[in-house]
Amino acid sequence: MSGSAPYQPLLLKIIHGVSAILAIAAMVTGFLVYNTFDGRFGKVPIPRIDQIIDIHGTFAVFFFVVFPALALYSFHAGNKKLLQKDSLQNLSQVSKPIWWVSLQRIANTLMLIAGFLAVLSGRMMKEEWLPTRQLNEIWYSLHLISWVFIVCCFALHILMSSKVGGAPLLLSIFSLNVRPQDSPKQWSTRLRNWLSNLSATSEGRIHHLMQNNFPLNIIEIIVLAGILTALILPLFFSGD
Ligand code: HEM
Ligand code: HEM
Repeated sequence: MSGSAPYQPLLLKIIHGVSAILAIAAMVTGFLVYNTFDGRFGKVPIPRIDQIIDIHGTFAVFFFVVFPALALYSFHAGNKKLLQKDSLQNLSQVSKPIWWVSLQRIANTLMLIAGFLAVLSGRMMKEEWLPTRQLNEIWYSLHLISWVFIVCCFALHILMSSKVGGAPLLLSIFSLNVRPQDSPKQWSTRLRNWLSNLSATSEGRIHHLMQNNFPLNIIEIIVLAGILTALILPLFFSGD
């Protein structure tokens, strides 16, 4: 990293900030749901909150709304911060700076995978399962596993970002400092440029993408298809 302070684009800061707050709220309220209605794997002695499923459902559904935006942003505008073609090879260079950078990009990518797993399994759950102690439903088990997974990935995400860029990088994602070329006034021009570039060279671009970062393309397809499934599938399985 150069001597200058890290800077994050405004659009990323907005989408990432909202997603992060909602994901953390979903992790905390999700745990409280487990603690109130399940507790098979241990329980924290805190007062019971009867409304907790509704509270969790509210944060969770808002997370489900913004998460596709974070995924689309990250896989396109932010794809340099995700898994790279050589990330896995670089993992053999243990403890070198490139090792940490590769781990950090893998951790960023894992957040998107963990988010999609939590959203898909959560959407398939029924509100009445836990109050009626139907604790062996498969989607509930998957939802619990995806909670463990997202909590671990979140810890990795924070640890790796702080290892690579320290406090300045961590703070840069919440910083209110906006560069002039990044101002919302420029967004429509930039969107138009991007779209015209895209349509001018879409075939070449697809070819280029496939050659450049095939693993990330596969992950993108899985995550986006998963989000779409999470949107549609519950409509067909209302009841069981
Ligand atoms: C131990 C952890 C968790 C438990 C026990 C839990 C429990 C539940 C329950 C009971 C529901 C059904 C309630 C409803 O549909 O209103 C639900 C839905 C949902 N959960 Fe979780 N959850 C946990 C963690 C998480 C996490 C970490 C996320 C996301 C980051 C998440 C995302 C969702 C989503 C998107 C829904 C669907 C909301 C809807 O469409 O109404 N959950 N969860
Ligand atoms: C307090 C909580 C969080 C902090 C401090 C944080 C910090 C950061 C930082 C510093 C970056 C930029 C990395 C870089 O420029 O190299 C980043 C990127 C990212 N974060 Fe977080 N994060 C948090 C929570 C989350 C959560 C909960 C999610 C997912 C649900 C998430 C998903 C991502 C993704 C996907 C990227 C990559 C964005 C891109 O491709 O440009 N983060 N985060």
